[in-house]
Amino acid sequence: MVEREVHVSDLSADATGKGEYAHYMLKEIYEQPSCLIDVFEGRVHDGKLLDTVFGQDAVEVFEKVKFVQIIACGTSYHAGLVAKYWIEDLVGMPCRVEVASEYRYRNPVLLPDTLVITISQSGETADTLAALRSIQDRTDATLSICNVPESSLVRESRLSLMTRAGPEIGVASTKAFTSQLLALLMMVVALGKSRGMEQQRASDLLRGAIALPSLIEKVLANKTAIEAWADNFKDLTNTIFLGRGVLFPIALEGGLKLKEISYIHADAYPAGELKHGPIALIESGMPVVAIACKDGYEDKIKSNLQEVLTRGGDVYLFADERLQVSDLGDRCQVMTLPAVMAELAPALYVVPLQLFSYYVALLKGTDVDQPRNLAKSVTVE
Ligand code: G6P
Repeated sequence: MVEREVHVSDLSADATGKGEYAHYMLKEIYEQPSCLIDVFEGRVHDGKLLDTVFGQDAVEVFEKVKFVQIIACGTSYHAGLVAKYWIEDLVGMPCRVEVASEYRYRNPVLLPDTLVITISQSGETADTLAALRSIQDRTDATLSICNVPESSLVRESRLSLMTRAGPEIGVASTKAFTSQLLALLMMVVALGKSRGMEQQRASDLLRGAIALPSLIEKVLANKTAIEAWADNFKDLTNTIFLGRGVLFPIALEGGLKLKEISYIHADAYPAGELKHGPIALIESGMPVVAIACKDGYEDKIKSNLQEVLTRGGDVYLFADERLQVSDLGDRCQVMTLPAVMAELAPALYVVPLQLFSYYVALLKGTDVDQPRNLAKSVTVE
């Protein structure tokens, strides 16, 4: 038996109570601007990532790495999918992402010089831990992105980066997700630095990320409009979420949030995939939630939405304020979001989707913080 020192938690009642909010989930959604400030505290200064963030060992690990393998579950897996877009696009390094329950039970090929990143809010998810353990004898280039410093995942990984989101009590993950995204962005910049990413590029990304909390505040201030959209969904049983590029994982996350807490069936697709099957579901009144940032591919998603509209579907579009979407017509309701660099859009666009799911669940009267059949941390199979 291992004996460990007793650790007395220094969490305050503020950190673990609901405060003025009706639910933990709502409180945690509203905490995101301050969580995102905390994640950079003492790590980024003047648009530069400090060398100490990942520790001395990291320099050696990052310099050798040629591939990245990300392993996670649930919402953390969606953060991993966003990171894949970033790593391949911004660092130019091949990256694979897989859910831990699959990875642990097959014989995955682990190429030499692969950095294995596990992402987990709790650091105790059984599948993620087992997946990490399954590769420990093949590599020591392991990094965990985690919210709980004392967790098994952190203890068993060579490198770790804490997301500092504070205790997350609502079962549906919100602030842990956006904090994971920004932690992953720091990792991308660190990896990029060892691969010749220009300092200007790195500092544009970091400065852009530091501006996110104020953009998120603006989105949160729009809650009445989001609540009104939620009202249209409370009696529905099915919906589809669409996104493209780096917002595809956010469509997945938006769909997951809605399923988890409102029990409405939601499928999410890359918008370009619609024509390969899901379009068969579109008929009069079928609601489709879409997200579109200014990434140069806006005409692509607009034409996907046009396909939905011509078949009688109803579109609810969260779009960058700079996009021209009025030509989509009246059955495409639009909520504009503040202008943001396309790379950073995931951390902004997920927020209205969280709030939207929250209000749908509230109107349906489900148990928002403790949805049926779900657990905050799945420590058994
Ligand atoms: C459970 C939770 C999800 C979470 C997933 C992974 O299913 O209900 O919200 O995303 O576990 O948890 P982790 O702690 O590893 O991020």
